[in-house]
Amino acid sequence: MTATVIDGKVFAAKVRAQVQAHVTKLKADHGIQPGLAVVLVGEDPASQVYVRNKHASTVEVGMASFEHRLPVDTSEPDLLALVKSLNSDPKVNAILVQLPLPAHLNSELIINTIDPTKDVDGFHISNVGLLGTGQKSMVPCTPLGCLMMLRDHHGSLAGLNAVVVGRSSIVGKPMAQLLLGDSCTVTIAHSRTKDLAAVCRGADILVAAVGRPEMITGDFVKPGATVIDVGINRIERDGKNKLVGDVHYASAVEVAGAITPVPGGVGPMTIACLLANALTACCRANGLPEPEGLTA
Ligand code: GUN
Repeated sequence: MTATVIDGKVFAAKVRAQVQAHVTKLKADHGIQPGLAVVLVGEDPASQVYVRNKHASTVEVGMASFEHRLPVDTSEPDLLALVKSLNSDPKVNAILVQLPLPAHLNSELIINTIDPTKDVDGFHISNVGLLGTGQKSMVPCTPLGCLMMLRDHHGSLAGLNAVVVGRSSIVGKPMAQLLLGDSCTVTIAHSRTKDLAAVCRGADILVAAVGRPEMITGDFVKPGATVIDVGINRIERDGKNKLVGDVHYASAVEVAGAITPVPGGVGPMTIACLLANALTACCRANGLPEPEGLTA
């Protein structure tokens, strides 16, 4: 059997179109334009590409984009002052501080200074606690994107066995919380799990977010399972640079029922969900109903 390939590019385009339609209606009905502020400190090349893409996508769906590019030697008090000014700016519904920050800045302090209702990354400690206790929160973009794709493929996830490989605060832990919220039976596994292959073979839904290139091979996959590959690893093969996931695609695709490729799977969903979160934050700030299908 060869798996159905879940096309993240097509799905992300649908999500962005839904966001755009909501933004158009917000403007027409209420005169409101959602605004997303992105803060970049320093000149890390990968971060510059991310920030450029975020700006272009934000403008494309009709939101206001506020970019703040600060020098690498920006002081912590200056960055905190900027975050506080964005917190109190009514044109800004959503704030993202691009990570990683230069080493002299305390990332936790900066993130926890963002107004939690504007924290589109869902990294603020209040949002982590709200998600963990099943309350309304801002949800990290990558796990939200995975959840949307799983709901689209399966309909209800209730009762399915889900195994999340990886325990990061950005993907693994919030992913597990979201799957629990949708009534899956959830196991969090990681690089130190005993007989990881056997644990993974119990999964109807297998989410790989462990950060190790092609670690999850076909023999880890239960026949017919849905495999979501969050990994983005740059490797060199045959003298060429290549992007691979945490799943060994060629062997897993022969066993799985459905699978996300790398590139073109989870990746494109992250920015689409960032826009969805910015829209959700704007609706909540204005006491308007949340956009259907775009939240956890
Ligand atoms: N750096 C790489 N990915 C992300 C992300 O999703 N959010 C933030 N804030 N920084 C990042």
